[in-house]
Amino acid sequence: MLIETAGGSITCDPWFLPQFLGSWFVFPRNDRLDPDLLAKVCHPDYLYISHIHADHLDERWLVEHMDKDTTVLLPGFPTGELERTLRSLGFHRFICTTDREELRLHDGLTIAIHTETSITDGPGGDSALVVSDGVSRVVNQNDCRTNDLDALRRHGPVDLHWLQYSGAIWYPMVYEESPDRLRELIAAKVESQTTRALRYVEAIDARAVVPSAGPPCFLDPELFGFNLITGDEATIFTDQPRFLAALAADGHDGILVVPGTTITLADGGIRIDHPMTSEEIDRIFTDKLDYLRDYQADWTPWLEQHRASWSAPTTDLLATITAWWEPLMRSAPTVCDAIGANCLLRLGDLDILLDFPAREVREWQDEPHAFRFEIRRELVETVVAARAHDWSNALFLSCRFRAWREGPFNEYVYNFFKSLSEERMVRTEAEALRKLSPDRGGIADETIVIDGYEMQRTCPHRGADLAVFGEVSGDDLVCTLHGWRFDLATGTCRNADDRALRIRQLGE
Ligand code: FES
Repeated sequence: MLIETAGGSITCDPWFLPQFLGSWFVFPRNDRLDPDLLAKVCHPDYLYISHIHADHLDERWLVEHMDKDTTVLLPGFPTGELERTLRSLGFHRFICTTDREELRLHDGLTIAIHTETSITDGPGGDSALVVSDGVSRVVNQNDCRTNDLDALRRHGPVDLHWLQYSGAIWYPMVYEESPDRLRELIAAKVESQTTRALRYVEAIDARAVVPSAGPPCFLDPELFGFNLITGDEATIFTDQPRFLAALAADGHDGILVVPGTTITLADGGIRIDHPMTSEEIDRIFTDKLDYLRDYQADWTPWLEQHRASWSAPTTDLLATITAWWEPLMRSAPTVCDAIGANCLLRLGDLDILLDFPAREVREWQDEPHAFRFEIRRELVETVVAARAHDWSNALFLSCRFRAWREGPFNEYVYNFFKSLSEERMVRTEAEALRKLSPDRGGIADETIVIDGYEMQRTCPHRGADLAVFGEVSGDDLVCTLHGWRFDLATGTCRNADDRALRIRQLGE
């Protein structure tokens, strides 16, 4: 997204090259942008990278195309990972912002960057950008699951709200489930991501909503089934027209954009100019299979080359992982205890057991386990060779694996895989300690009432304010931030055994 104002321009999250081990491609394609527009994208006054996931921080493209003298607007994250990465790419001008605080960059250009810093936001954090030229205001929320909607609203009325709605996760598609159960899980996931997006839409109450930051498309033949084409595919990656229909059904105005679309806010109006005819735009979605096949044909040589770059098996993979992860396990006893079971990595000719209770990594000898990942060995070799600190970013988002778990979701398993450096694991352990200790203080101790039920104010999943995100649905209280459900009668969590909600029906 390129924002132009009289006070300066901001390029936001320029993503052009396929990411996540060649899995995610930009959709609709942006590899044929008008050269004049591309030049503006590459030479703005400011660059904003919302967070360090590769579909927002496209490192190779930034190195090859972006003007390194551009001033970077840095979110106020708790770690310096984003700044360090951008410096390593050649950027040298930075403005550090403070969470939620407005900053005047120039006459007619004020910004505020809101950050989310929970480990599950991908330990480096995620952020949303508010931009005002003194007349109009744009919120670029992208995929930041902000918890404090009041803070985002407080800057004033919003004209355009750019929002992710399509999900960006491997769950549940990669899980070993029966086809029927998988359909159920996918339907529930799509419903919860749509409900969450609509909740944001209501709260920001912009004049118009722009579906953005997703979905990706999948051009590798192995993954092509993750594209939603007929509507029947087993995938969570819904698309723009489907979300625009949900918006319209809820009474909100939405704007369909494709790469190259310009939205002009001037004289109280909203003008939209597309780089192609509306029939051509419609065809992207109505003839999606043809569109994706053409796109695939153009990128097949790239994909072949990319796949050939995956690392060959080494002789010391087990020793390398052991030397790397055992110290991390020992430094994070709360995380390991919260996982509380063995996790098996099946890599074809090598099975590695992560014994979290004993803080050990070793070859599997048929011991029981509660979590299992089946991953092609060369992919693990590739991320190990790169010493990737965040396997959610480096590996899992590729959807190139299978997973199984014995019981319910355990966020600490993924938190471990997202924190494979000392710097990250220190924060992950501290957050686990904070979450799992009985006395968390703040609004955790407050209660609220929703539809005759009194309950704790924070969601046991990731602490969302249920006064904002809580909703009674059938027999459940649903937290619409991620769709977790709690039995209204008992508070039992339907997503994880150890996350009951304190709740009681008033008058009982
Ligand atoms: S915070 Fe995730 S479902 Fe409530």
